[in-house]
Amino acid sequence: VWSLSVWLTLRVSVRLMQTQSSRKSRAVRDTLRHVKVKESRRQGELHGPSTVYVQVLGAGSRDNGASLYVFSEYNRYCKMFFFVCVLFVSRIKIARLDNIFLTRMSWETAGGLSGMILTLKDTGVPQCVLSGPPQLCINNTKITLIDCLFLFLSAAVRPYTEPQYKDDTMTVSQVPLFCDGNDLKHIRVTHFSSHIMIINVSFHLLRPYGAQNHIFCLMFPQLHSKKGNFMALKAKEMGLPVGTAAIGPIIEALKAGKTVTHEGKEIRPEELCTPADPGPVFLVVDCPSEDFIQPLCTNHVLQRYQTGGSEDSTALVVHMTPESVLDTDEYKSWMERFPSSTEHLVMNEQTFTPHNTRSHKLQTQLNLIHPEIFPPLKLYKTKEPPASLRVPNVRAECLMKFQLRPKLEWQRDAIPSCDSEEFVKEAAEVPKFLVEVEECRKFQAAKFPEIVFLGTGSSLPMKIRNVSGTLVNISSSQSLLLDCGEGTFGQLCRHYGDDVDEILSRLSTIFVSHLHADHHTGLIHLLLERERALNSLGKAFSPVYLIAPVQIMTWLNQYHDHCQQILSQINIIPSKFLCDGAEVPKVKTKSLIQAALKKNDLVKFQTCYVRHCKNAFACSLTHQSGWQLVFSGDTMPCDAVVNMGKNATLLIHEATLEDGMEEEACEKRHSTTSQAIGIGMKMNAEFIVLNHFSQRYAKIPLFSDDFNGKVGISFDHMRIRFGDFPMLPRLIRPLKALFAEEIEEMEERRERREMKKTAEPPSNGESGTSRQPDEMSKGAKREQDDLNQETAIKRLKTN
Ligand SMILES: *[C@@H]1O[C@H](CO)[C@@H](O)[C@H](O)[C@H]1NC(C)=O
Ligand SMILES: *[C@@H]1O[C@H](CO)[C@@H](O)[C@H](O)[C@H]1NC(C)=O
Ligand SMILES: *[C@@H]1O[C@H](CO)[C@@H](O)[C@H](O)[C@H]1NC(C)=O
Ligand SMILES: *[C@@H]1O[C@H](CO)[C@@H](O)[C@H](O)[C@H]1NC(C)=O
Ligand SMILES: *[C@@H]1O[C@H](CO)[C@@H](O)[C@H](O)[C@H]1NC(C)=O
Ligand SMILES: [Zn+2]
Ligand SMILES: [Zn+2]
Repeated sequence: VWSLSVWLTLRVSVRLMQTQSSRKSRAVRDTLRHVKVKESRRQGELHGPSTVYVQVLGAGSRDNGASLYVFSEYNRYCKMFFFVCVLFVSRIKIARLDNIFLTRMSWETAGGLSGMILTLKDTGVPQCVLSGPPQLCINNTKITLIDCLFLFLSAAVRPYTEPQYKDDTMTVSQVPLFCDGNDLKHIRVTHFSSHIMIINVSFHLLRPYGAQNHIFCLMFPQLHSKKGNFMALKAKEMGLPVGTAAIGPIIEALKAGKTVTHEGKEIRPEELCTPADPGPVFLVVDCPSEDFIQPLCTNHVLQRYQTGGSEDSTALVVHMTPESVLDTDEYKSWMERFPSSTEHLVMNEQTFTPHNTRSHKLQTQLNLIHPEIFPPLKLYKTKEPPASLRVPNVRAECLMKFQLRPKLEWQRDAIPSCDSEEFVKEAAEVPKFLVEVEECRKFQAAKFPEIVFLGTGSSLPMKIRNVSGTLVNISSSQSLLLDCGEGTFGQLCRHYGDDVDEILSRLSTIFVSHLHADHHTGLIHLLLERERALNSLGKAFSPVYLIAPVQIMTWLNQYHDHCQQILSQINIIPSKFLCDGAEVPKVKTKSLIQAALKKNDLVKFQTCYVRHCKNAFACSLTHQSGWQLVFSGDTMPCDAVVNMGKNATLLIHEATLEDGMEEEACEKRHSTTSQAIGIGMKMNAEFIVLNHFSQRYAKIPLFSDDFNGKVGISFDHMRIRFGDFPMLPRLIRPLKALFAEEIEEMEERRERREMKKTAEPPSNGESGTSRQPDEMSKGAKREQDDLNQETAIKRLKTN
């Protein structure tokens, strides 16, 4: 099965689809061709696709908000639509994504677009249409899109004068329901023409405009009706000229529902055609708060879909609606007005199924090695009681499907099973694993500080490793975050479950090393969730100290100006002012630095420039009690880090690539495993933990001879205390046993690579793989990582 929620680049997904479905392979191989063919398909040939389903991508949980995906197969060609609430979801087979519908504009609903569009861009999807509320469009013809990295671009907007979006598969109508942010009592219901934007491949995050007005829209797609089939055999029996040219017009007329006269005999369409299948309608309702109940429930456009008349009867209503809204009498009665044949799907925080079984499986197995270093993952459970609905309804689970064609039905076979016992059993059967686990038991550790690795991969988030984020638990009341890549909040949610609010409320300081997307794009989401946490715990609000390259303010200012208030959430301390010997020009900054130190019980917070991109920093924290923690961020081996971290207690250093790939590492300005260890040894650090592994080492990096008693590797959700240092190198043997197969494969690849290298003289850099230092210098870049496709595919298949 190709799992939908795999975080993969398009190239990989395309390859994957090829291997999985030879039937579709020709269509899939060439996306451009698919688009061309689609365009050249003659109009009027509309019989409607034979398979269409709606699938839940994000069930609406706090860490994986609601998002829905519509699949339609038109002949051999796939088409996809995406009703987005939150896009922190998977990079599903994005090659085929041609439409994205947003129900409203907010970080919650559109924040995931930045990552999504970076991926689309990486993978060269020719175009993708975004539809949604009016804020999507500025001045009707032009929209400014920003990405997270300050690249401003304009995209052409195609104004959509019809109130509907229509294509080969379906028609989507949008009904906006307004609710003025300033005066919630003043509610207007207005129709508007939706706008469609064609996104040029190189564009980035759209700029939500004027999102202070709460506007959301409903979408009700209706599949085109499918005409009945002509019963040729019966026609022949009736003496019609089947098999000759004369039959063509007769079939056409009959299918169109007309009565024809053949040789004086009247033939009614019902006699020779199976009944037509009217296109089922489904509604996507995003009703975020009680303010919208009235405009929703009194909307007359919708009433037509509630009557149960044959043509427009609604097959499915998707409620992206919180329990508090569902539980109102008005909403309940509105639900009851749909015919009893209508299915209701509810997507909100009242959902408890994990969406990433691979990560649960890994953590369950690692937990066998050490229950404290690898604590079990948790689920955030909302405190809202479930609404008592009066109509039958279905709660969303990840990857659940509702098929619209050929037959209306729920399909649960894609829902992944998450059976811990099975995972444990599987690991227990791995040769030597349990023996090695026994060997490394029996170590006790001191308490503080505690480090929780939230993301230990580089470049783009994947199922096993997410991108940079490390929580440092300084005391029982203070925590600090080192980098905040996309998905950091989700990781906290899965690590702490119901305690996530408590954790967020203790977070006072965030360090962002540099402005590559894998290190900072999770920040806005995290800040918004922190605010929510402080509110719900009834704690006083205070901004976080944000220690980051000052250029991050361009991004935050943009978001603040055009989307929603965010600046009050932070106090910026530019990283450059914490370098050794730096002059701090402003009194305000000076006092912020003092306050941040005091808050975290630190005597020193130092930064230094590193050798990566422009304005990339490492940092070092020295605690009152004497320990010193150094974090490299992304960098090639760098002496400034060594000098800053002399005799440090712990060095967390990036080790993006394996040994033997020094050239590539240098080109991308990253370190290899042994280079990272070398820095730690030069520094005389007491202990070294490696992170930021290329996603080609999703499960485990390759070990080198330089590994010694002072070196450990990190995993997402790994939690260590300083007392665990002696334990960490001991974990390596059971880890090697558990991942023996992967390690063997990687070693084989290394050998092949080395043989190739000796066979070919080194190239001059002009040919072969594309380089991107130029683009990199513009900063608008997800860090590139040419993931090894074969392995990725293999992994997917085996899992
Ligand atoms: C709309 O266009 C006018 C004139 O071109 C421009 O001055 C204005 O800033 C635009 N509005 C927005 C929101 O971009
Ligand atoms: C893409 O951008 C170019 C340059 O801005 C523009 O000429 C072209 O029309 C755009 N294409 C689409 C499909 O918007
Ligand atoms: C990485 O983040 C994504 C999106 O939040 C999530 O689906 C996935 O489970 C995460 N991976 C791990 C290892 O937790
Ligand atoms: C930090 O550690 C203390 C003691 O182990 C624990 O009570 C607290 O919840 C931890 N905080 C975080 C943010 O992990
Ligand atoms: C580091 O430790 C060594 C020996 O343990 C000592 O000689 C040296 O002065 C220390 N360096 C610093 C900068 O503290
Ligand atoms: Zn990085
Ligand atoms: Zn980087």
